[in-house]
Amino acid sequence: MWAQDWSNVKDLFLPCKNKPSLDIAPALREQNYTAERMFRVSEEFFTSMGLSPMPEKFWNLSIIEKPKDRTIVCHASAWDFCDSKDFRIKQCTDMTMEDFVTVHHEMGHVEYYIQYKDLHIAFRDGANPGFHEAVGDVISLSVVTPKHMVKIGLLSDSAGKKDSEVDLNYLMSQALSKVAFLPFGYLIDVWRWNVFRGKISSSHYNCEWWKLRSEVQGVQPPNIRSEEDFDPGAKYHIAANVPYMSYFVSYIIQFQFHRALCTAAGEYDPKNPLAKPLHDCDIYRNKKAGDLLKEMLRLGSSKPWPDVMAVITEGNRRMDVSALREYFQPLENWLRKDNKKHGAAVGWKLSKNRSYSVSCMSLLFFFCLQFTDVLDWSVELC
Ligand SMILES: *[C@@H]1O[C@H](CO)[C@@H](O)[C@H](O)[C@H]1NC(C)=O
Ligand SMILES: [Zn+2]
Repeated sequence: MWAQDWSNVKDLFLPCKNKPSLDIAPALREQNYTAERMFRVSEEFFTSMGLSPMPEKFWNLSIIEKPKDRTIVCHASAWDFCDSKDFRIKQCTDMTMEDFVTVHHEMGHVEYYIQYKDLHIAFRDGANPGFHEAVGDVISLSVVTPKHMVKIGLLSDSAGKKDSEVDLNYLMSQALSKVAFLPFGYLIDVWRWNVFRGKISSSHYNCEWWKLRSEVQGVQPPNIRSEEDFDPGAKYHIAANVPYMSYFVSYIIQFQFHRALCTAAGEYDPKNPLAKPLHDCDIYRNKKAGDLLKEMLRLGSSKPWPDVMAVITEGNRRMDVSALREYFQPLENWLRKDNKKHGAAVGWKLSKNRSYSVSCMSLLFFFCLQFTDVLDWSVELC
């Protein structure tokens, strides 16, 4: 509904349509996966790196399946009960790839809680909110590699073979999750902060929302919207008053963390990315990567976040997209070539008496290359 993760329409975008895209859902079904098994597999990834297992209380008291006897808020979340012992997840887990990734995401929060549990309560938090969102996602960047899926029996051996075309399909599917998310992750709080600043009045909530959606994200509503509608309120984090910029930050810094851990693990060679590309790195069972991650997590919010970041990034104290670019480099190369071949224009443009053209955020430019159609804006803007 939000066009925040586009990987569910990846079949439309695959660079190599004759090669398979990798889907673990059939294997999850065939092997009769349960919610508990998904959680155990996730926990095993953390412990394989020397990180902490989930405590007994976690297993006793978490809700990992949708209860049959009552209605609950199913939006997945992780909780620190602040007594250094009680940590829980609440998730109505489905047997899908998406939920498999969400399990790792939520467990990343709990792993962070556990690592900083002995700090003073004031420091039991992420170095910044983006760090908290990034922990589980960093783990997932290894988990979802075809190489790792073969290791844990969710893809057949043949899927693990080196094949640059399968690689491109995989990278496109990852880009549809990770890159397509960025404009969405950014605009939610741009809209909300402008409401808080009084720059967006209550009589313009919805049109200003759709203005950002079209300008920043390049999407249109499927039918005519008006101020009778309040579309932002249908997003959980708006209705539940949960800040959103942390996700935008996370989607950038998680690639910096991934690069740092993969380099430490010897799974990525920045000098020879063709032999060991960043997107193919799996830090499973790697104690060096585990120790480094642990060192960062244990600091909680006791130091300014750039200091915490520097612990694992060999001194880099800035958030930047260079790691994200490195990760997607083969796809970027392919997109440049493919767009040249088809004479595709970059970006999208709003028509209807508005002469501004919308250029993509520079960090997204390579993804935008795919959008060739000029959007036909048929809704009254503010
Ligand atoms: C977890 O549940 C088991 C079985 O009900 C119980 O014996 C055990 O004491 C519980 N552990 C904790 C830490 O709550
Ligand atoms: Zn989260």
